[in-house]
Amino acid sequence: MSVARQQENPLGESSVRVAPADPRDVEEIVSCHVLVFPEEVIAMLGSRFLRSHHRFYATRPRGICYAAREETTNRLMGFVIGGAPELRRRFILLNAIRLLPLILWKVVTNRAVRHRVGVAFRRMLEKLSPNLPQARRFDPPEPPAGTWSLLLYICAHPDFRRRGVAARLLEAFREGSATKGFKTMRLTVLNDNAAAIQCYRKAGWTQVASNEEMAYFERPSAETKGQAG
Ligand SMILES: CC(C)(COP(=O)(O)OP(=O)(O)OC[C@H]1O[C@@H](n2cnc3c(N)ncnc32)[C@H](O)[C@@H]1OP(=O)(O)O)[C@@H](O)C(=O)NCCC(=O)NCCS
Repeated sequence: MSVARQQENPLGESSVRVAPADPRDVEEIVSCHVLVFPEEVIAMLGSRFLRSHHRFYATRPRGICYAAREETTNRLMGFVIGGAPELRRRFILLNAIRLLPLILWKVVTNRAVRHRVGVAFRRMLEKLSPNLPQARRFDPPEPPAGTWSLLLYICAHPDFRRRGVAARLLEAFREGSATKGFKTMRLTVLNDNAAAIQCYRKAGWTQVASNEEMAYFERPSAETKGQAG
């Protein structure tokens, strides 16, 4: 499947080429990830961890991973990563022995990691408690299992912002989700990330829930009438 297309470019800037990421893209994706999300727990776990995480998503049939490159220079302009939500659990299980000491060390030494791991643990416990009232849950109800894809990370490299990179990546993610049989896509975004929220709204995503920390957005993966791309 190829979603590479020329971007219309009235400013004469070089075009964006979006294509499924393969393992050769991973190294640059990791560098971009560390640059853009230095505060993210996954980035704090280090480049080795990120490399195996992103390679996992780029090579799994139910993973969805695209890289945007500048046509003229072939530089990485941005990336998007996600896929079937159960891939996350599978990745953790597959790498548990290697990850556990690293995570424990970061939990002890880093407050932000401690907080995120605490939230992840709370979410896991909630999943195991079907009778817990919705009002006490962190996450809103999920769409039926197997029908939705989870967008985990999207970013445009700081050198290439406001040039339609994220818009193109979101469209590629939508197309990839539809091709892999997911009816709905979901993502979470921190409430104070106004740029990303505006970007998602513009791409046809709708906020379906929020809590004190983040907002949840969804969008059907079917192309909507009149959508560019
Ligand atoms: C949010 C982000 C992905 C947008 O990437 P981008 O390639 O610059 O976005 P695009 O050029 O495709 O913009 C699409 C639309 O999003 C909105 N948008 C993008 N950046 C914006 C900003 N800084 N302020 C307000 N709106 C913005 C605009 O509506 C824009 O359309 P327009 O340019 O026609 O007005 C980018 O700023 C980024 O990588 N941020 C850091 C990582 C991040 O926050 N990722 C999301 C985590 S959930």
